This record gives sequence, structure tokens and C-alpha cells, in this order.
Amino acid sequence: MKIFIDTANVDEITKYADLGIIDGVTTNPALMATEQRTAIDIIHEIVKIVDGPISVEVVSTEAGRMVAEARHLDSLHENIVVKLPAIPAGFEALNVVVREGIKVNFTMIYTANQALLAAKLGATYVSPFVGRLDVTSTGGAELIEEIVTIFDNYGFETQVLAASMRNSIYVKYAALAGAHAATIPPAVLEAMIDSEMSRMSLDGFLEVWETLPEESKASLFDGVEE
Ligand code: E4P
Repeated sequence: MKIFIDTANVDEITKYADLGIIDGVTTNPALMATEQRTAIDIIHEIVKIVDGPISVEVVSTEAGRMVAEARHLDSLHENIVVKLPAIPAGFEALNVVVREGIKVNFTMIYTANQALLAAKLGATYVSPFVGRLDVTSTGGAELIEEIVTIFDNYGFETQVLAASMRNSIYVKYAALAGAHAATIPPAVLEAMIDSEMSRMSLDGFLEVWETLPEESKASLFDGVEE
């Protein structure tokens, strides 16, 4: 399962890239705006930090303009994946740009049928918004299962990129459902890494270890240097 980080913050991206756990990055206009920096500078920095798919979204809602923006984003770097929204104009733009070899992350997917059509048109990724779906109704996890099943049924190469992962349970559901990738905000990645139980267990072991005489403790790692 590929793990993408869902942020435009270069410090967070660097932190998790150094940890070796991220395969790519997803941004969106809101995440970019949160940084309050020149947007193009952020993109130039991200492509240097992570050698993997970097999703960047168009901001137009009109098909012709979306195509122009998609071409421009695609020209910035070979790892850029263009995010197009799952609205009628997005489908129109998708149909044009995939024929030009542009990689598309078709985003804001809320139904299996939207994903089916995006796969037929040749999207590289579809992004079901699991957390947002659960906020307004239910079935975020089931949506991923449905899309994975449909893609398997017909051998679509489009990858399911589980998005809007607002807690670590969603990531587990996505993995169980066979999502090819999940895009995860830094805070949720942190929650996946850090378990209080693990830290408490370690504290218990080391507490007992400390009861050993100094000489005996020192003997185990005698001569070891960092
Ligand atoms: C995905 O590509 C989106 O950037 C993101 O997952 C949206 O998440 P949110 O619903 O928490 O804003």
C-alpha cells in the first residue's frame, strides 16, 4: 500500500520523507492556501523532497480552462499528477488530458459510479473522500470496498487512493479494503506511529532493567558507539 502525505507543508513533508514512510504527496487548493506562501515555490520544493507522485489541483471549474491548467501543471515536473474534481467539467477535462498522457488524480469522489467512469476515461488515481462522506452520511469505508471490487472485476489499472483520512481507523479500513494508496495528514500519520501502550510497555521493561547492577548493565553494550 502506498502512503502519501496530505499536506503542502514542506517541513512536515521533509520529516516523513526522512522517516522513509511516504511514497508521494497530495495537495489541494485549501492546503496550499493554509501555507500562506507563493504556491509555485511550494511545488518546486516538494518535488525536490519526494521522488514520487505529487498531486496538484486545478482551480478552474470550467473544462477548457481546467485543461489549460492541467497542461501547465503537468509541464512543471515529471512527478506531477493533476487533480481534477469530480464535477461534469472535470470529466470533460479528464477525457481530453488523459489522451495527452497527463496523469490525473480524479478527486472528490463520493460514489462508486463516479470512480467507474473516471477509470473508464483513464484516470491514474481516483480519490474517494472517506472522512467527508462519513460526516454527511455513512459508508466511507464501504465506498472504498465497492470501488476496489469494481476495478478488480474489470481489470482497471486506475488506482484507488483513499482520501480524507481524518483518523487512523480510516487508514486501516482502506488497507483492509485493498486500496492501492491512502493519503494521510501529518497528525494522522503521527497517531499511526505513536502508541501509548508501546511507550508504557517499554517504560516497564526499562524500569526492571535499571535494577541490574551498573557493571552488569554495561557489559551488554560494552564498546558500542553511535
Ligand atoms: C485529498 O487529496 C484531499 O487533499 C484530502 O484528503 C481532503 O481531506 P479533508 O476532507 O480532510 O479536507
